[in-house]
Amino acid sequence: MRDRIFGLDRKTPVLDGSTVTYVNLDNGASSPPLMDSVEALNNFMPYYSSVHRGTGFKSRLSTRIFDEAREIIAQFVKADLSNNTVILGKNASEAINKLAHSLPSGDDCVVITTRMEHHSNDLPWRDHFKVVHVGTLPDGRLDEDDFDRKLALHKDKLVLVAITGAANVTGYLQPVHRLARKVHEAGSLILIDAAQLAPHREIDMKPDDDPEHLDFVVLAGHKMYAPYGTGVLIGPKQAFLNCSPDYSGGGTVSVVTPTEVFWAGLPDKEEAGSPNVAGAVAMAASALALMNYSMKKIEEHEVVLTKYALNRLKEIPDIIIYGESDPEKLDRVGVIPFNLKNVPHSLLAAILGYEGGIGVRSGCFCAHPYVVSLLNLSDEEAESWRDEFLAGDKSKMPGMVRMSLGCYSSKEDVDRLITMIKKVATGDYAGEYVVVKKTGEYVPKGYSEPFDDYFKFNK
Ligand code: ALA
Repeated sequence: MRDRIFGLDRKTPVLDGSTVTYVNLDNGASSPPLMDSVEALNNFMPYYSSVHRGTGFKSRLSTRIFDEAREIIAQFVKADLSNNTVILGKNASEAINKLAHSLPSGDDCVVITTRMEHHSNDLPWRDHFKVVHVGTLPDGRLDEDDFDRKLALHKDKLVLVAITGAANVTGYLQPVHRLARKVHEAGSLILIDAAQLAPHREIDMKPDDDPEHLDFVVLAGHKMYAPYGTGVLIGPKQAFLNCSPDYSGGGTVSVVTPTEVFWAGLPDKEEAGSPNVAGAVAMAASALALMNYSMKKIEEHEVVLTKYALNRLKEIPDIIIYGESDPEKLDRVGVIPFNLKNVPHSLLAAILGYEGGIGVRSGCFCAHPYVVSLLNLSDEEAESWRDEFLAGDKSKMPGMVRMSLGCYSSKEDVDRLITMIKKVATGDYAGEYVVVKKTGEYVPKGYSEPFDDYFKFNK
């Protein structure tokens, strides 16, 4: 896959004035584009035109390609389009908010989610439902006994169980089909936030009448090597038929009178305004490339590399790895959070970036409750941090550094990371770093980034 990723050969600047080939270990946040998505866009752009509106050849072609993109994305998760719809939007957060708007809601209606979710699979439910959180075990895994208890307790008022397919902080994989079976036995529906899962593992929604069927799946293009602003919600058409759309306007209607609106069918009703055709084309091209290459092969490569990364991280005496660190008990995708004792997470991340040319993410990864529990912070510690944070001082923000692999990541990438962490551990780094209170980031004193040498607009 290395040959198919855009920009892997690019050198970027480091603190000593030299340049190094960039190592991206931040695929969990956003992955670089696959050439297949870039090439598909380039080939399509000369013919791009409005979809579902125009009458010219370019519009007719664009409409066909846009609809085909939807079918390819359905194929990627094995969704049956006779009963299900593929709604295209801008990202996973928007997709989950859309479903929160569409399901029957009220104080009495319960949504079960978990303490390991990204905020995007927690906050949207809080606005509309009574939200019940399933806890996690001390090692960060889902507490499935708690899941069973809460499911039994709330099943009469349960509207949905919304759970991540792979946690964005620890990479833990969820037994989604086993959970789906339990949820269906309880008479409810399940949503899998597959934003973090999709680039790492094959997804199979299974036939609608299968007890292990996944009712709703959410995807994010920018984590699937197609960073062009597309998020996807796949689910039963029925779920969207008895409500007005979250956004109304162009494209959502069949007929409008001065006083009445008759909504269009699906998915049009749920895709207000002119859609992001380019984003859909790129995402479909990327999904096709991943399927053609084989998600199984991607999984095999990643399992080997994740084991390698865990073993190499464990060479460092002061490393703390969060989540399962035994390479033989691997139930996580290639996402590993860690800390180095006595080094602030954001300082470590800064040195990796400024001096190693290595991109990672540090902090709480939009999953504050989960990170606070993984760090084992007391209520008082969490509260004191929160008060300082809200007062504008983020310098003591708790957190971790996260490395996240992509399908193209290599042992050499991991080795570069380990070498640099070892240097930090022994104080062998050059910069004098100061923390910016407002952002919590560390920056090297007196360094000015040569951004203009890399990209600037033609003003
Ligand atoms: N959800 C992305 C992450 O986990 C941004 O980093």
